[in-house]
Amino acid sequence: EDGALWGGRFAGGPSAELAALSKSTHFDWKFAAYDLAGSRAHARALASAGYLDDAELTGMINALDELERRVVTNEFRPEAQDEDVHSALERGLMQIAGPELGGKLRAGRSRNDQIATFIRMYIRDTSHVIGGLVAELAGALASQAETNMTVIMPGRTHLQHAQPVLLAHQLLAHAWPLIRDLQRLRDLRHRLDSSPYGSGALAGSTLGLDATQVATELGFSSSVPNSIDGTAARDLAAEYAFVLAQIGIDISRLSEEIIIWNTKEFGFVTLDDAFSTGSSIMPQKKNPDIPELARGKSGRLIGNLTGLLATLKALPLAYNRDLQEDKEPLFDSVEQLQLVLPAFIGMVQTMRFHGARMRELAPQGFSLATDVAEWLVKRHVPFRDAHEISGATVRLAESKGVDLDGLTDEDFASVSPLLTPEVRDVLTVDGSVSTRNGRGGTAPDRVREQLQEFRSLLDEL
Ligand code: ARG
Repeated sequence: EDGALWGGRFAGGPSAELAALSKSTHFDWKFAAYDLAGSRAHARALASAGYLDDAELTGMINALDELERRVVTNEFRPEAQDEDVHSALERGLMQIAGPELGGKLRAGRSRNDQIATFIRMYIRDTSHVIGGLVAELAGALASQAETNMTVIMPGRTHLQHAQPVLLAHQLLAHAWPLIRDLQRLRDLRHRLDSSPYGSGALAGSTLGLDATQVATELGFSSSVPNSIDGTAARDLAAEYAFVLAQIGIDISRLSEEIIIWNTKEFGFVTLDDAFSTGSSIMPQKKNPDIPELARGKSGRLIGNLTGLLATLKALPLAYNRDLQEDKEPLFDSVEQLQLVLPAFIGMVQTMRFHGARMRELAPQGFSLATDVAEWLVKRHVPFRDAHEISGATVRLAESKGVDLDGLTDEDFASVSPLLTPEVRDVLTVDGSVSTRNGRGGTAPDRVREQLQEFRSLLDEL
């Protein structure tokens, strides 16, 4: 008896080549605890339906508990002949419970409904772990925003100076997508909150087992309404792969900025030594490897998502063995984020911003030209004209080699009589920032409110 789950109709065992191709224990052993929990719930459902008497149920649960103990202590491990986690654990159960009792457990269930259930449990459980790390990163960004609340920096579009903004506003702009990622994880948990256990191979079971009882015991609020969908669908796995990839991308966009801010030319930020690396040849080097690895890993997370989607595309219902390919990409995305996020959090918590350097650059590149145009609009100049006039002051300043505040009163008057000396009031970065005071704007008062709003949302997630 080699323990295979499907030997009956076959004259001999599988070829070594098939066994090697088919085997999944090297990755699905991760689901051993879920499989055992499923088995206990299933045993109780069998007992409720009259297929196990009280003594048999007790024997089965005791055997499963003992098997779990051996799994935890590594006394029981998958062996060469085990095809997958389910086969391995049935072999273990047979050893402990004996073939008479152990052989009763598989009634009314299939590896197809088991694996579909366990992947949901895996997503549910790991999404809390990833979510915890994402929340910690969001909190670290919020703390940096609070610490640097008075720092003004050049805000950019097209990577060109656009308008001055608060560093806190910019940091929170990187943190809000993380809030949405946390919401996505929460929404996904809600969507996957029904159990496929009881769907059987695809069509359900003739045994009258209570799928709701199993679902409840496994922590789901219901069982799936369609057994074919229950065993065949992996959209929830793809959705999880997407959210994990999106987290990677959100971190990658911040990484890109940190890498640029950390250059000599920018000089906006210094990374702590504990979160930087050196060069094997250039003694002076201090490199931002954490954001670079984070940026690089995001490509890998996208690959995991697209690989999974490609596996699912045009796959007929119900279960096909292709679906065995659903697990490794998810495992990899989760594991990579479990490496990236803690390092990234530490880097963010310890990075030091250079406010004076940021403020020095903030007004450069004529970044106050919009302020001049809006100053004119407040004097009832149509915006099209105001834009032209402000543009002309930029052209004049550029030709004189000065910034806007380097123009004289006469210079302004020569561009337009509307540009009276009071225009200088808006030619400071503080004025520019503090007057952008509508909801969502970069004015310090608004950003302080924003930080509060951010934190209370984060607390709820
Ligand atoms: N190991 C499979 C998976 O991960 C489950 C087993 C289903 N096998 C089968 N022949 N129906 O999807």
